Amino acid sequence: MKTIKKIFASKEEETIQLDMENLPRHIAIIMDGNGRWAKKRGLPRTAGHKAGIEALREVIKASSELKIGFLTLYAFSTENWKRPKEEVSALMKLLVYYLQKEVKELHKNNVRIRTIGNIGQLPEEAISQIGKAVDLTKNNKGLTVNIALNYGGRDEIIRAVRNICKENIEGNICIENIDEEKFSTYLDTGDSPDPDLLIRPSGELRTSNFLLWQLAYAEFWFSNIYWPDFNKKHLYTAIKDYQMRHRRFGGLK
Ligand code: IPE
Ligand code: IPE
Ligand code: MG
Repeated sequence: MKTIKKIFASKEEETIQLDMENLPRHIAIIMDGNGRWAKKRGLPRTAGHKAGIEALREVIKASSELKIGFLTLYAFSTENWKRPKEEVSALMKLLVYYLQKEVKELHKNNVRIRTIGNIGQLPEEAISQIGKAVDLTKNNKGLTVNIALNYGGRDEIIRAVRNICKENIEGNICIENIDEEKFSTYLDTGDSPDPDLLIRPSGELRTSNFLLWQLAYAEFWFSNIYWPDFNKKHLYTAIKDYQMRHRRFGGLK
């Protein structure tokens, strides 16, 4: 028997019905379109990044309430360093500000914060704030939020291969024992299940180097909406659409 729950998606009390037994365990989101959101309003790009934080807050809360297990959010890619240094610096400051301001509330809501990506290359203040947030929330049993920072799917795979080679040279691992399951444990996502659903707003139809290995059988959901305008209604709609898909994993129905 399906457990159908009516979810109120907005103040106008629009209802969306979700099958609570067929929720994605892991949702990945490419939080894109901040710059264009700002441009449309004649504002600087950084205003778009700031506005994006509101969407982030709403999506984390809604995912928590739905009891989604994992949310992986693309916040800064290995390629985003190519942007003007003022924008990169504003993004890093915003990250620190967000963590300082939100971590207590996230902790109260039983959210566990983790990061993926090569965070060692971030500014020291960011590394320190991340460390505090991860440490404070590490034993929480609710939603796991993986924030992708200085993250690139190719970079992650290369780092995994290097670590495997190192362990092999040290005699700790046999190459013959590396299978897909074992390899996955060397990725930044570690023991997280693969994403079931990838959401990308902003109108771009690409992965931009996000979770290249992990998205092998994810369902993709694209939308023209810019990230700062993304709200829980869009999240529920994406989940609803996901529930209409037939996942075959290469087999037959
Ligand atoms: C996403 O928004 C945020 C980051 C990449 C850090 P963008 O800054 O890419 O916004 P657009 O794509 O230029 O509109
Ligand atoms: C992907 O968006 C990275 C993040 C959202 C953090 P980009 O804006 O960097 O991607 P491209 O350049 O449009 O592919
Ligand atoms: Mg973009």
